Amino acid sequence: MSPRIFLIAALLASSAFAGDAPKMKMESVRATPVAADPAAGKKLYQRWCTQCHGDEGKGDGPAAEFVYPRPRDFTLALFKVRSTPSGQLPTDHDLFKVISEGLPGTSMPAWNKYLSENERWRKVLDYLFSANGADWKLAVIEADAMLEALLDQLGFKGETFSDKLKTADPEKFHSLPAAWEVHAIRNRIAHEGSEFSLSQHEAKRVVALYESIFRQYGYI
Ligand code: HEC
Repeated sequence: MSPRIFLIAALLASSAFAGDAPKMKMESVRATPVAADPAAGKKLYQRWCTQCHGDEGKGDGPAAEFVYPRPRDFTLALFKVRSTPSGQLPTDHDLFKVISEGLPGTSMPAWNKYLSENERWRKVLDYLFSANGADWKLAVIEADAMLEALLDQLGFKGETFSDKLKTADPEKFHSLPAAWEVHAIRNRIAHEGSEFSLSQHEAKRVVALYESIFRQYGYI
């Protein structure tokens, strides 16, 4: 069964989930877009998806016989939401979209409501998984704006992002080197425009750094 489904489900997860369902905390899930951790994703799948899709993804979970249409059997490799030609597998973005938005008119839930309440973060992921290369830069720009909002929340004072970071105490704000690194990339995107090329792979790496900072502070 496709480990990609684990990974993409894991990306949507965040501690914010606890807001909706206090008993269903997901603190153990620490996925990042690049390093997306298959073990964490598998746990998530077992918790939220097996009742319909079954342990092995065969669409034979305990709830399967009560829903119509039946949950998808992933081993058949048939997907409705696809930007790829008929008979081919969906892209990561297609999977992200269908898991986020669900399949209206069926019991397949829109998981974005449940797995991450942070809309800005969902927007970052949406840009990151986009098929359009220009969006990958927007993912970094948006993540950087989130980081600045986090710095404000943490009480860092200053006019600009850099001023705020300069006041940070490296003893307390352990993510300082990561924050400088990603912000420098964001600045290149903002200042060099189309001269600066950013691959999706690099965008994922950078967004993963933002993500690790956000998770440290329970921001997503
Ligand atoms: C309450 C039952 C239920 C649960 C829980 C559920 N699904 Fe589904 N899922 C469905 C059904 C039903 C379909 C197929 C609908 C159809 O055939 O139109 C489906 C289809 C899908 C598809 C195929 C989409 C496509 O483009 O064809 C994916 C991928 C998927 N589910 C992933 C997940 C993941 C990941 C989870 C857990 C986070 C999950 N599902 C949890 C019922 C469920």
